[in-house]
Amino acid sequence: MAKITLFGATGTIGSRILREALDRGHQVTAVVRDPAGLTADHQNLTVVTGDVLDPASVTGAAKGQDVVVSAVGGGDGPGHIATIAPSARALVAGVRALGTPAPRLISVGGAGSLRTPDGKQVWDAEGLPEFLLQIMHAHGDALDFYRTVTDVDWTNLSPAGTIEPGERTGTYRTDTENLVLDPEGNSRISAEDYAVALVDEIERPQHAGERFTVGF
Ligand SMILES: NC(=O)c1ccc[n+]([C@@H]2O[C@H](COP(=O)([O-])OP(=O)(O)OC[C@H]3O[C@@H](n4cnc5c(N)ncnc54)[C@H](OP(=O)(O)O)[C@@H]3O)[C@@H](O)[C@H]2O)c1
Repeated sequence: MAKITLFGATGTIGSRILREALDRGHQVTAVVRDPAGLTADHQNLTVVTGDVLDPASVTGAAKGQDVVVSAVGGGDGPGHIATIAPSARALVAGVRALGTPAPRLISVGGAGSLRTPDGKQVWDAEGLPEFLLQIMHAHGDALDFYRTVTDVDWTNLSPAGTIEPGERTGTYRTDTENLVLDPEGNSRISAEDYAVALVDEIERPQHAGERFTVGF
């Protein structure tokens, strides 16, 4: 049983991570800005108030925990973009302040920086809307930052090109730098199976200090 602090538990992806972790018997502290937004109720769930952009808030919620998971961001507005890279910095600063031993840090990343079969990156595709490009590059900036960090045990998990609520199959494939494609050339994962992969990484760490990605 791991003690997990989760930022973003009210979100599309974070709520699946919360469910998967609780279903597997882990103890979760969900850090939310407004407790009224989290309706889940479970004997292994504690809800506290905090802000991922505040390193002191991260430190307080991470103390004594095994893992800090961040699934923050979301929506089409500027708040999404403004949260991604600053939250990476605040999470690292907040965990770093705990000294040793500190919890691991696992964050939800983006697919934009992944390689496509033509050797380019997802964000090089023509015709992508500007707001999506900004989100992709914000995740790229966050990943670039994580890659400079050597004193916090971080992992960044990029979704497939498309991630949506769907079925929990319990199966997925991974890569580190290449977009995971199915035989038809599509890159997709359900939010439920993304959560399976993330909780698998909590239970059996295989990607310390690197990014990996998951798809069907
Ligand atoms: N294919 C891809 O690469 C792909 C696709 C989808 C999503 N993503 C990424 O996955 C992440 C999560 O996406 P999502 O769709 O699950 O988002 P979402 O449903 O909008 O949820 C976002 C979560 O972040 C929380 N949050 C935002 N700012 C916060 C702050 N300052 N402090 C604490 N919590 C904060 C929100 O909490 P509140 O309840 O307080 O608002 C909410 O729980 C995003 O970074 C997104 O870019 C990547």
